Amino acid sequence: MVENDWNSQLYDQQHAFIFQYGRGVLELLKPQPGETIVDLGCGTGHLTKAIAEAGAHAIGLDASLNMIAQAQATYPQIEFHQADARNFTVATPVDAVFSNAMLHWVSEAESVAESISKALKPGGRFVAEFGGKGNCAETLTTLRTALRELSGHEIENDWYFVSIGEYSPLLERHGLLVRRAELFDRPTKLDGGEQGLRNWIEMFCGRMFQQVKDNVKEQAIVRTEQQLRSEFFREDSWYINYRRLRVVALKETLP
Ligand code: BEZ
Repeated sequence: MVENDWNSQLYDQQHAFIFQYGRGVLELLKPQPGETIVDLGCGTGHLTKAIAEAGAHAIGLDASLNMIAQAQATYPQIEFHQADARNFTVATPVDAVFSNAMLHWVSEAESVAESISKALKPGGRFVAEFGGKGNCAETLTTLRTALRELSGHEIENDWYFVSIGEYSPLLERHGLLVRRAELFDRPTKLDGGEQGLRNWIEMFCGRMFQQVKDNVKEQAIVRTEQQLRSEFFREDSWYINYRRLRVVALKETLP
């Protein structure tokens, strides 16, 4: 896993659509009063707050200290902790683990599924949405090709964007029985007008630039904008082809 040093303020200011779309995933979670629910990869905590507002005891976990610090400052009454999805633990098994727009950052999905399964009560639910197979494919392929042509190096795309067929057996190996899974397209308008695609690349694709010089990065972004413009820039805004994987799984009650 490549660590990200998130800028939590920019995340909230320029990419609010991420947690706004997450409200649809909360409808699948249906948090109930009295439940204890982990929000895994809680970011700046807005969805953790929505879980708490439903009357549940919400616990927000995130690997980024910046995110946790901002979440705790915004919602001091809610419990937040820094934790790694690959090995997080809870004091007492919980009713549900919820995760929005985070799991594609962690390629060690077996460890994540094992931790989720251990954290759940028998019958507890795992409800998640994240980037699925083919997510943002045109943008990432164009950027990757530009970087290869400009730097001469092959740049790895190591996000965990999987299909239903890959992810369901993995969950089931860890005692999480898949009850619902959907892979769907969500073309998404980016904030920031002309700057929208550049802002998105700067925020989410940092790991692709680790081995390249700043001038190569700059040229690659400009080339990507030029090549995608006719298809993905409309009426003063950039759009990106998000593809999401949504899953609901229940922790099996029998061993
Ligand atoms: C996403 O949130 O879907 C995403 C993150 C990083 C790169 C591409 C897509």
